Amino acid sequence: MFKSYRNLMLSAVVVAAASTSLLAGSDASRVYANGKKVIDGGSTYPVKDGKTSAYFVNEKAHKGLVKFGRAATPDEIRAWDIDVMPDGTGLPEGKGTVEDGDAIYEEKCAACHFDFGTGGAGYPALQKGNAYEGHKTLTNQRVNGNDEGPIRVFGTYWPYASTLWWYIKTGMPHPHPMSLTDDEVYALCAYIISINELKIDGEELDDEYELNREKFLKLKMPNVDGFIPEIRGKNGLENTRKFFNDFNNYGIGPVSKKTRCMKNCFKGEPKLARIQGAGISDYQPPLSNKKDLPKKKEGAGAEHPGKKAYEASCAVCHGTDAMGAPMVGNKDAWAAVTKKGMDKVYYNAIHGINGMPPKGGTSLPDDKIKEIVDYMVGASK
Ligand code: HEC
Ligand code: HEC
Repeated sequence: MFKSYRNLMLSAVVVAAASTSLLAGSDASRVYANGKKVIDGGSTYPVKDGKTSAYFVNEKAHKGLVKFGRAATPDEIRAWDIDVMPDGTGLPEGKGTVEDGDAIYEEKCAACHFDFGTGGAGYPALQKGNAYEGHKTLTNQRVNGNDEGPIRVFGTYWPYASTLWWYIKTGMPHPHPMSLTDDEVYALCAYIISINELKIDGEELDDEYELNREKFLKLKMPNVDGFIPEIRGKNGLENTRKFFNDFNNYGIGPVSKKTRCMKNCFKGEPKLARIQGAGISDYQPPLSNKKDLPKKKEGAGAEHPGKKAYEASCAVCHGTDAMGAPMVGNKDAWAAVTKKGMDKVYYNAIHGINGMPPKGGTSLPDDKIKEIVDYMVGASK
């Protein structure tokens, strides 16, 4: 868990660095073997001459306008790359009271995370979830016929408190990460621990409670055992054995019997069946329960020679109808295009028309463009 949060925050730093350097024309994002590039983690865009088509900004054409920011230096990235581990590695000395934390919280956090960390409006809650009632529902949530797994907030879900210190220090407040002192972070942790009603060494955290490094490391999170075991490292084998020897980590077996559930684990229908009653019945086309693959058409199988290039260079606009380009597969749209005669269509594809850049922004030879157009037309009949 702390690992993935760490990666998440690190990637935020890298993205910040990447977007500045993209504007400056250099390239810090990932290029795949097929020549496409990932810009924002999800979308891929074709790359031409090392430039990302949909995003490239021609600096010369905008002199003085787009020169802001710069790439983060390795030292700057290192300064942000702080790890705080469950065993206390990386956690500095410091202290802060619940009361101080409350005041800082009001000033710097409540605007987004709301009073007492209740969250809302898209911002994560920092407290409670279902942390109450002795935290009974939190571990081994797959057993006891109990489907109240831990709600994914700090108090109920996170396995290690160290993540909280680290997360706040390096990532919060959202607009000014790394602006808090170590003592302020301790105070905020004290406050957040208190609103989660967690105890340290059996002690509740009242307003005067002063948290420090030593006490912080004693905080044991209710869901610490709720994750898969650490299978690497020198205790890996032992951890794995322990995990698999604990019947609680299996199915919905009756706890009293202390056995793994191997059959008749459900009373009645499994819950998933409910989805049928959820009103989604009018599938178009109707759902099929046939299991054989659709028959191949005569002569199908061999790939059209224009298909690959289409996918690499044209699909970004022609694969959807959101860009104003005739969508491949849309019969009517392509009937309207081809009505002009194929010579005109080839010409437009090569020389561009309206939102269609010449050759779709590529430098492919004319013949190749024609081949791709043939593929597009053929796939839209
Ligand atoms: C401008 C809005 C904003 C402010 C102010 C802010 N946060 Fe956040 N906080 C966020 C957002 C957004 C996330 C979720 C980030 C994500 O998941 O990528 C978050 C996540 C968190 C998390 C992790 C929650 C979880 O369960 O994943 C903690 C802890 C946190 N903030 C603490 C704080 C503290 C402490 C402060 C004040 C010092 C603060 N935040 C101020 C917006 C804000
Ligand atoms: C940046 C987006 C974009 C890319 C990339 C792109 N197209 Fe287009 N294309 C368009 C738009 C928008 C139109 C509609 C132009 C119009 O008629 O207004 C269009 C129209 C066309 C047409 C129809 C022209 C006509 O006569 O109506 C063809 C053929 C075509 N594109 C082929 C291609 C091929 C081949 C590629 C890849 C090599 C490609 N396009 C890449 C946006 C794009």
